[in-house]
Amino acid sequence: MKMLVCTDGSEQSQKAVQEAVRVADNFKSAEVTVLYVYEAAALPAYSRGRGDIPEEVLLRYEGLSEKAGQDILESAAAEFKAKGVKCELLIKKGYPSDVIIDEAAEGGYDMAVMGSRGLGGLRRLLLGSVSNAVAQQAKTNVLIIK
Ligand SMILES: Nc1ncnc2c1ncn2[C@@H]1O[C@H](COP(=O)(O)OP(=O)(O)O)[C@@H](O)[C@H]1O
Ligand SMILES: [Mg+2]
Repeated sequence: MKMLVCTDGSEQSQKAVQEAVRVADNFKSAEVTVLYVYEAAALPAYSRGRGDIPEEVLLRYEGLSEKAGQDILESAAAEFKAKGVKCELLIKKGYPSDVIIDEAAEGGYDMAVMGSRGLGGLRRLLLGSVSNAVAQQAKTNVLIIK
């Protein structure tokens, strides 16, 4: 059973990691990949209308995002390791929903596991933008942790 666990480090995605550990622990042969997607487009979007951002600032921003992602992945990995479940770590750059949908299809996973909400603030919505897009468009099954 091949599982793609998606985390953005949010409280809800930490719940998703814990649940994925529990599911994986109950399968004889679970193959787990933990994925974090860092966004290259966030800074230009944020600074729209404020003039061009120097290349080195963009690269530094991306570097920091990638570093933050590695930390998030390491802490998820520790949870799997604590239960004796092996996992691979994957960090990719792009739009989170697009990257997750593509990876879920191309990596031959049986299911993607994710939180219902993430780091965004709109609590009145049941699903976040990423979980909503993945639930609707992914070719694999999706386990959404509430
Ligand atoms: N950048 C990301 N990389 C990997 N997984 C992500 C990323 N962003 C969101 N997710 C997954 O999607 C879930 C829902 O997050 P999201 O839809 O972004 O909600 P919100 O709109 O509240 O931020 C998260 O709990 C996480 O499992
Ligand atoms: Mg989000």
